[in-house]
Amino acid sequence: MQETHQIYVWSKVTRLFHWGLAASFVTTIISAEFENALLIHISAGATMGILLFLRIIWGFTGPKYSQFANFDFNLKDLFWYFANFFKDRRLFVGHNPAASWATFLLIVLGIGTTFTGWLLLGANEVRGLWAFLAQYDNLASKLLNYHIWGKNAMCIVAAIHVLGATFEHFWHKTFIINSMLTGFKKAPLHVKGIEPTKAQNILGMGFLILAFITGVGVWKWSESPLIGAHPNLVYYHEEFPEYAKECSSCHVLMPPFVLTKKSWEVVLSDPKNHFFEDITKKVPNLEKIKEYIFKNSAQTSYSELSRGVVKSSKNRNVYRVTRTRYWKDVHSAIPRSVFEHPLIKSKSNCDACHNNFGVDNYIKDEDISLKALGVLESIKIYLKIK
Ligand code: HEC
Ligand code: HEC
Repeated sequence: MQETHQIYVWSKVTRLFHWGLAASFVTTIISAEFENALLIHISAGATMGILLFLRIIWGFTGPKYSQFANFDFNLKDLFWYFANFFKDRRLFVGHNPAASWATFLLIVLGIGTTFTGWLLLGANEVRGLWAFLAQYDNLASKLLNYHIWGKNAMCIVAAIHVLGATFEHFWHKTFIINSMLTGFKKAPLHVKGIEPTKAQNILGMGFLILAFITGVGVWKWSESPLIGAHPNLVYYHEEFPEYAKECSSCHVLMPPFVLTKKSWEVVLSDPKNHFFEDITKKVPNLEKIKEYIFKNSAQTSYSELSRGVVKSSKNRNVYRVTRTRYWKDVHSAIPRSVFEHPLIKSKSNCDACHNNFGVDNYIKDEDISLKALGVLESIKIYLKIK
């Protein structure tokens, strides 16, 4: 048995990087299950992306064992590591071969996944810097595939990493999990620990603070051009008060982008029989309103709903959003009984579950709210548990 002593290998900055990454990654995974937790998701995702990016710089500027130069990327060593996994082995002072590869893969995959996430925010949600991507057909679904593929690959690497570390900790009794908490690790007698310089401490702390500010910033400036709702936001009560008022006298205002022009033409063709109601009295400005609605119907919008409605109304006139394939798919996890709830009443009562519905031309994920239901029932719907 080799003689050993405890030495300092993981500086405070390196440990905070590690646990910051772990926490933000787990947060992105959980929040992704909840449609209305988008802001939490992108806040944690941005933090993770920045941490990973800065971890690269730290890999050139940090203390010895955090530097990539000190990593063991030799494939022979990796093979040896796994081949001798169950035997007694030599101690690795810094990153063992498996941890070296895990760190490398997590950095590459993590940055790729974060970046596709940002692009996806544009292509799918029509938000932020990349909102213009929404005009390209099918790009959103491609990006979503890459995003999920990257996430799955990260989960696999992380799972192997966690299993390996747990095994080392308990089977080989190297207690490496403690080392990521305290910074101290068992090492052969001749090996000396690190002494981070003042400059390294300041730089590293600066990096961590920057990542923290990024996360909070996403939250605080969720309307900034980098991630905010699309740039041509229209408030109906400002742009066209007669429409906002008259068309919301019986139900929540149905924005023009929820139906195609052809469908609208039918819905508004006979004001004496609008879903068996006579709207002539309540909507004196119908002609002007029709013009406005036709001009701003679903074809002119790249919103997620419009794209879905246009796609699913091909060659057919659908007179209700709720009859479109897209609407049905998106709401498929909601049991029929929910729409009969006294506070919801009908599928068409969009604002019962979507705050601010009909106020502007954007349906925000964060505005989804199942406030009429209990917490448990809501969670079941979000997690699509039938
Ligand atoms: C006199 C009352 C009344 C007025 C005013 C009115 N509607 Fe309606 N509207 C109805 C009723 C009733 C329904 C059917 C609702 C249901 O079955 O849940 C309906 C349904 C709709 C739907 C279908 C909703 C769905 O399920 O997808 C659209 C779209 C719509 N109205 C648009 C308009 C527009 C635009 C205006 C203004 C020009 C307007 N409505 C004014 C009574 C009205
Ligand atoms: C019973 C509550 C409820 C009602 C009523 C309802 N929705 Fe939803 N809606 C939800 C929930 C919950 C989700 C998120 C589903 C999920 O987890 O994927 C959702 C998702 C959506 C999305 C996708 C959001 C996105 O950006 O991914 C759109 C668009 C949408 N609803 C539009 C509508 C419209 C339009 C109406 C009215 C015709 C409506 N909803 C009525 C609960 C409701």
